[in-house]
Amino acid sequence: MGAILFLLIVVVLMDQGARVTRCANGFTQPYSNQEFLNCIDINECVENQHICGEREICVNQVGSYLCKCHTGFSNYGNRLAQCAELNCDPYETQPGQTLPGFDSFLSLLRNNCLVLNNSTLSGPTRPLSTGDMLLTLLVNTTDVLQLDLQSNGHRSSSEVTKLLRTIEISIRLIAPQLTENVTRIETNHTTVKILVRRDKNLPKGPVSLTNENTQLDTTWETVIGDDQNYQGFAFVVLLSYKNLDSLKDNTSHQSQQLMSSAATVSVSNSNTTNLPQLINLTFNHLQSSDVDPTCVYWSDENGPGVWSGRGCTSVMSNSTHTVCSCNHLSTFALLKGIHQEKLSLVMLVGVFVALTCVSLSLITTLWCRFVSRKRRGGNRQQQDVQLNRK
Ligand SMILES: *[C@@H]1O[C@H](CO)[C@@H](O)[C@H](O)[C@H]1NC(C)=O
Ligand SMILES: *[C@@H]1O[C@H](CO)[C@@H](O)[C@H](O)[C@H]1NC(C)=O
Ligand SMILES: *[C@@H]1O[C@H](CO)[C@@H](O)[C@H](O)[C@H]1NC(C)=O
Ligand SMILES: *[C@@H]1O[C@H](CO)[C@@H](O)[C@H](O)[C@H]1NC(C)=O
Ligand SMILES: *[C@@H]1O[C@H](CO)[C@@H](O)[C@H](O)[C@H]1NC(C)=O
Ligand SMILES: *[C@@H]1O[C@H](CO)[C@@H](O)[C@H](O)[C@H]1NC(C)=O
Ligand SMILES: *[C@@H]1O[C@H](CO)[C@@H](O)[C@H](O)[C@H]1NC(C)=O
Ligand SMILES: *[C@@H]1O[C@H](CO)[C@@H](O)[C@H](O)[C@H]1NC(C)=O
Ligand SMILES: *[C@@H]1O[C@H](CO)[C@@H](O)[C@H](O)[C@H]1NC(C)=O
Repeated sequence: MGAILFLLIVVVLMDQGARVTRCANGFTQPYSNQEFLNCIDINECVENQHICGEREICVNQVGSYLCKCHTGFSNYGNRLAQCAELNCDPYETQPGQTLPGFDSFLSLLRNNCLVLNNSTLSGPTRPLSTGDMLLTLLVNTTDVLQLDLQSNGHRSSSEVTKLLRTIEISIRLIAPQLTENVTRIETNHTTVKILVRRDKNLPKGPVSLTNENTQLDTTWETVIGDDQNYQGFAFVVLLSYKNLDSLKDNTSHQSQQLMSSAATVSVSNSNTTNLPQLINLTFNHLQSSDVDPTCVYWSDENGPGVWSGRGCTSVMSNSTHTVCSCNHLSTFALLKGIHQEKLSLVMLVGVFVALTCVSLSLITTLWCRFVSRKRRGGNRQQQDVQLNRK
């Protein structure tokens, strides 16, 4: 009886084997012309020497593989991703470098970074929710600091710069540790949306992120940058600040007003100061207005920080929306009133007109003096000429 059953099973299996033409992911048929079609495990580590990158350890598993990172590198628990170099230095709090409210948050980040550095060869051991928990804390802290900056009478541009810089470096560590493809957190004053793509294959084509105030349109090519840098994951972040008052620079003129919420855009590519492809941001106006707004970004390269229009242009504007095209990433907003570049252009034109007027009046004065002197002393000559003509 048992033998008959065994035979039956073998026959059924053989029959199925003959019909199966493909193996599951991670398996292959070595001899496809053979009658017995056995799927065997692919050794991805041998097949593709670079699957885990140059400096990592590839471990073959049945039907899959696993990348283990050396000390100083991490793939943030994404087993199939290449390992990226870790740098925990930015999370070192130095007095005066960050806002006081960020001190404990940054030390948490630093600890998280060091744990990632330590968890190298032992594989992914981190608690799954680390990224999500840190993001919630970041948004909560940003909320509190926005209010602090607003209520603080002598708020300065350098404090806004510190807030924005801390947010940007924090996102770089947090985003790769998020578990979901799309993460969205909204609080009273901050809203953040993060798109994470984990894929061995290089993603391509357009990508957009939207919240109720702003829409970001870009491409995966911009998000990733150089193909060579692609390590199996990529992220795009759109973070909007609803509390605008705190994000005004203290050098701006009274007439300068933000006309939209400000938004930080951050991507996995870290070389974003001169993008080959423009990104587009569609801002909803806070109030419908016929004033032409200026697209600006927070510039902190020289000095404490100021809204600047360099590298951004408004490509479309109606009373309720404005589309800005920018060639770099940062924190962006719409500004009402004349912005610096326009201002300096107006000033240049003014100076030019003034100089022209001064030179003209000088020339006229000199000419008049010359003529009157000639009249006084040269009347006879003139008469002679007139006589000669006759
Ligand atoms: C990671 O740990 C190693 C050894 O413990 C250390 O040499 C290296 O500096 C650490 N890297 C970072 C980014 O902290
Ligand atoms: C990292 O590992 C070293 C020794 O392996 C240990 O002394 C240190 O406490 C660890 N650091 C963290 C943050 O886990
Ligand atoms: C963030 O703030 C919200 C609302 O105040 C609170 O419910 C939540 O527990 C906070 N999250 C963290 C991680 O502090
Ligand atoms: C802006 O703030 C900085 C630092 O507090 C201060 O030195 C500067 O004078 C302020 N500028 C204006 C125009 O208030
Ligand atoms: C996340 O994205 C990957 C590919 O990018 C996809 O395979 C997976 O199903 C997505 N997960 C969810 C929960 O949508
Ligand atoms: C958010 O705003 C609502 C309404 O103004 C208020 O009741 C609530 O306490 C606020 N939450 C926080 C965490 O500030
Ligand atoms: C942004 O807008 C410009 C001009 O409208 C367009 O040429 C470009 O393709 C857009 N970029 C993206 C990523 O949508
Ligand atoms: C940064 O990007 C620009 C434009 O794509 C490129 O020309 C430059 O070589 C890149 N720099 C680095 C350090 O990768
Ligand atoms: C302004 O432009 C936006 C985006 O193109 C469009 O959705 C909206 O309907 C326009 N509003 C008006 C009043 O034309």
